[in-house]
Amino acid sequence: MDSRINGSANQPITPALVTRRIPEAGLRRLEESGVAFEVCCEDRPPTREELLAAVKGRVGLLTTLADRVDEELLDSAGTQLKVVANFAVGFNNVDVAEATRRGVAITNTPGVLTEATADIAWLLIMMAARRATEGHRMVVSGGFHGWGPKMLLGQDLVGKTLGIVGAGRIGSAVARRSRGWSMKVTYADPEPNAQFEREFGARRVDLETLCRESDIITVHVPLTPETRGMFGVAQFALMKPTAVFVNTARGEVHDEAALAAALRDGCVFGAGLDVYENEPQVNTDLMNLDRVALLPHIGSGTIQTRDQMAIMAADNLVAALRGERPPNLVNREVFPGA
Ligand code: GLV
Repeated sequence: MDSRINGSANQPITPALVTRRIPEAGLRRLEESGVAFEVCCEDRPPTREELLAAVKGRVGLLTTLADRVDEELLDSAGTQLKVVANFAVGFNNVDVAEATRRGVAITNTPGVLTEATADIAWLLIMMAARRATEGHRMVVSGGFHGWGPKMLLGQDLVGKTLGIVGAGRIGSAVARRSRGWSMKVTYADPEPNAQFEREFGARRVDLETLCRESDIITVHVPLTPETRGMFGVAQFALMKPTAVFVNTARGEVHDEAALAAALRDGCVFGAGLDVYENEPQVNTDLMNLDRVALLPHIGSGTIQTRDQMAIMAADNLVAALRGERPPNLVNREVFPGA
């Protein structure tokens, strides 16, 4: 464990634990704040056992989306724990209700990763629509024997209908990019978003209509009990055989086996995924299919974005440890009236 102790060298345990080496910008921010912290496990995810042991006695945790922050972990940490600063916009890895019950502040990193994630959604849209994975495999395997009039034909995007599931920050950034392709935008969201409709001329439809009418279906919802398994056999069956399905949100929102079957049976044209049901495992049927573009959960993976996320998570942690309301507090109940 890399110990960075600022002013509390002889304490048996430092107050804060960073569960994984985050970009230096965040670690520097913590150092500047004077908060004593340790970094667990360097550049690999801690095992569950390591994590449960490492959190003991901590007042603050800076976690990643791969760390399950549940009752067991909160018990292991102890009653002095004040804050869990998640290095992600999504916080489905955290049992927020349980943390709230214990008065533990939960924070996330919204906003700073919007554009990077929208870029990855568009990368996957284009890869899947234009069969880039197959083309890449063909070239590197020595299978490219010259230009062909019917070789690897994909789908046009100009003027097509883009179906956005979840009209929040990332959904909006994806819609903004679609202007370059003069696309019609539809969206499905439990809440109408008037600004989204105005800005993109978007039409709100139910999920069934969106699946039936869209040429591209792109997912931008948080993982909640309502969105878990939102795309399964029935939804893929509604899609056009020319449609492309993209998910850069959370893998549990779609059923991987159902998607693999839909691709195999030609119910959908292609798919682009950055997230998986059981990360880091990926359904082998999906891996063996041609018409999929698969990325290893790198939606927010740019140098600049990860630096900003690290700084944001560090600031959230430090604020809570100082007894101040963290800027990106998820469970407002923990700082009532602040
Ligand atoms: C990435 O998936 C995040 O939630 O930040």
